Amino acid sequence: MKITSAEFVMSNSDVAKCPKNKLPEYAFIGRSNVGKSSLINMLMQRKSLAKTSGRPGKTQLINHFLINKNWYLVDLPGYGYARVSKSSKKTFQKFITNYFEKRQQLVLGFVLIDCRHEPQPIDLEFMEWMGQSQIPFSIIFTKADKLKPNALTRNLEVYTQKMLETWEEMPLYFVTSASNGDGRDELLGYINQINSD
Ligand code: GTP
Ligand code: MG
Repeated sequence: MKITSAEFVMSNSDVAKCPKNKLPEYAFIGRSNVGKSSLINMLMQRKSLAKTSGRPGKTQLINHFLINKNWYLVDLPGYGYARVSKSSKKTFQKFITNYFEKRQQLVLGFVLIDCRHEPQPIDLEFMEWMGQSQIPFSIIFTKADKLKPNALTRNLEVYTQKMLETWEEMPLYFVTSASNGDGRDELLGYINQINSD
């Protein structure tokens, strides 16, 4: 898919205030610092369309980006950031789950996972919750540039085995790097295909 325009539309914490039109949207979710905002910039080939930071907890609201005037990418706050206070952590979780449960325009969530780490309970639990709530999702393994090919292959195998303990099959997944653009064509191609179905 050729990107002809990408514009920031709005930030808010209330799903009821998100854009009212019926354009399809895709949301990025995952642990703080996994690379959600960076991946949006990589896909759109824009340096700072979405705000990124080396410190976790940068994105704190639901952010809508209108792409090619006909679909939205949504950047969400991360979950599992231990250093925010307990009450504010709860708020994140509530409005994140609210967003996924209530947002009818949502076509699919992408759960981002850092390819360097072994399976983390919080990600596995979040995907279980998505499954139970019947919210379609795919996985994106991020930061692929940080691993040698063999280590990447091994980690993907370990992740697949772990998923197969609870899932009948491994969900569709992509492998990306915001640093070198790996996975960009595959991911945009996938979204394009769904949008044109
Ligand atoms: P929150 O908004 O806090 O939830 O974080 P986020 O998931 O949006 O992460 P963000 O995109 O802000 O990136 C976090 C850090 O990881 C930044 O320092 C990025 O430069 C770095 N980073 C993100 N993606 C990649 C990648 O693919 N490769 C490498 N090497 N670094 C990355
Ligand atoms: Mg972010």
